[in-house]
Amino acid sequence: MKTSDTPRTYKVKSFGCQMNVYDGERMGELLEAKGIKPAAEGEDADLVVLNTCHIREKATEKVYSDIGRIVKAGNKAGRDPMIAVAGCVAQAEGEEIMKRAPAVGIVVGPQAYHRLGDMVTKAVAGERGTDTDMPEDAKFAALPRRRKVAPSAFLTVQEGCDKFCTYCVVPYTRGAEISRPYTDLVEEAKRLVDAGAREITLLGQNVNAWRGEDTAGHSVGLEGLVKELANLPDLERIRYTTSHPNDMTDELIAAHGEIDKLMPYLHLPVQSGSDRVLKAMNRSHTAQSYLRLLDRFREVRPDIALSGDFIVGFPGETEAEFAETLHIVDAVRYAAAFSFKYSPRPGTPAANMDDQIAPEVMDERLQRLQTALGRHQHAFNQASLGKTCDVLIERKGRKPGQWLGKSPWLQSVFFDSELKIGDMVRAELVQAGPSSLQGRVLDSVPA
Ligand code: SAH
Ligand code: SF4
Ligand code: F3S
Repeated sequence: MKTSDTPRTYKVKSFGCQMNVYDGERMGELLEAKGIKPAAEGEDADLVVLNTCHIREKATEKVYSDIGRIVKAGNKAGRDPMIAVAGCVAQAEGEEIMKRAPAVGIVVGPQAYHRLGDMVTKAVAGERGTDTDMPEDAKFAALPRRRKVAPSAFLTVQEGCDKFCTYCVVPYTRGAEISRPYTDLVEEAKRLVDAGAREITLLGQNVNAWRGEDTAGHSVGLEGLVKELANLPDLERIRYTTSHPNDMTDELIAAHGEIDKLMPYLHLPVQSGSDRVLKAMNRSHTAQSYLRLLDRFREVRPDIALSGDFIVGFPGETEAEFAETLHIVDAVRYAAAFSFKYSPRPGTPAANMDDQIAPEVMDERLQRLQTALGRHQHAFNQASLGKTCDVLIERKGRKPGQWLGKSPWLQSVFFDSELKIGDMVRAELVQAGPSSLQGRVLDSVPA
């Protein structure tokens, strides 16, 4: 790599989960602290950070096609942008990226990106660098303070995974489960609220495995942190994601009936409705134990919206086993869901299992599953019609004069009235579509 000028502008492109979005924002702040400014909309940046996801094959392939596109655009414009690959592909395939893509100057893993600034300095001097260390919790302490944030902000409280589901790369790319300290999180939440956040979503690969020590020295679970954050007067909504069924505690369930600011929404992936498949996935819950858990949430919070993740075509999945997944979908009546075709990931046990399912069988199952999930989502939206609720306005809609916000149940609600980002409006839900609703403003609570 040749020596280049210090980049003046940057762009971070984040793929994958919300934790990557959080990391992407933090990398942006870090670069800004170094005097590098965000590139304007539509402008080519001097430094492009690809914050990648390794969860499925398709997500991974994106990295190389994106690198190719950036190089081509750079050549055309007669310039040579600096490219950094961050995120989970960087962690999993760091050396390979360096070999395959000479245009990449920096490879930095998800636990090491607090060192990105130094790596940029070195790259300017012509030194390519890979950093995929996993120092426990070091990055959070080393990151700059947060400034301006959106009304709905993310806060990573827990990282990593010890569950080792047999299909999943996360335990390898994000490392072992760690919880960030209670006081650090309360401080960061305060700063987010001061910077304009009205809603905070607590993030973790296994967010409900979070544990910490409160200011009185008591060991508390996630409900303890939620309770403390609910005391922040200007914070109006709290959410958390993603939970694992096995880490769910009585205290966290009870919190849903006790804390008004904790929104009535729970994302709890099930993956499959078949106990044989769940066992082969190493999920350590059954369809029944999962359903019983959800019943307990519904007891304390009857209006709770439930969401889940599903994988179709796990090795060996029979038609009858897939039918059990459809069955659990009907039993739960999900308000929202994410569903995926199984993608074999290098280094995971499931990738070497017999009976890999043919792609056309997966396609067909995914279609049937998504039809069922779509039906329930639409029904959930229909059942919301006529309800009055608060909606937090997050952005402009696609049509002129249109605004988009989120209901307490995380539904997208559109408005045609004149509003602004960060408004919390009292609204009636007047029309329901398959994946969104139309609202009518009753009253706007001043920001
Ligand atoms: N920690 C969370 C989510 C992890 S990744 C949890 O345990 O639920 C998000 C989702 O991607 C998973 O819930 C799963 O549905 C899906 N996923 C993970 N690995 C996959 C793979 N190899 N193929 C297809 N989908 C996968
Ligand atoms: Fe992956 Fe399972 Fe961990 Fe979720 S719990 S991140 S699916 S290994
Ligand atoms: Fe993807 Fe890594 Fe998140 S693999 S889903 S970006 S933890």
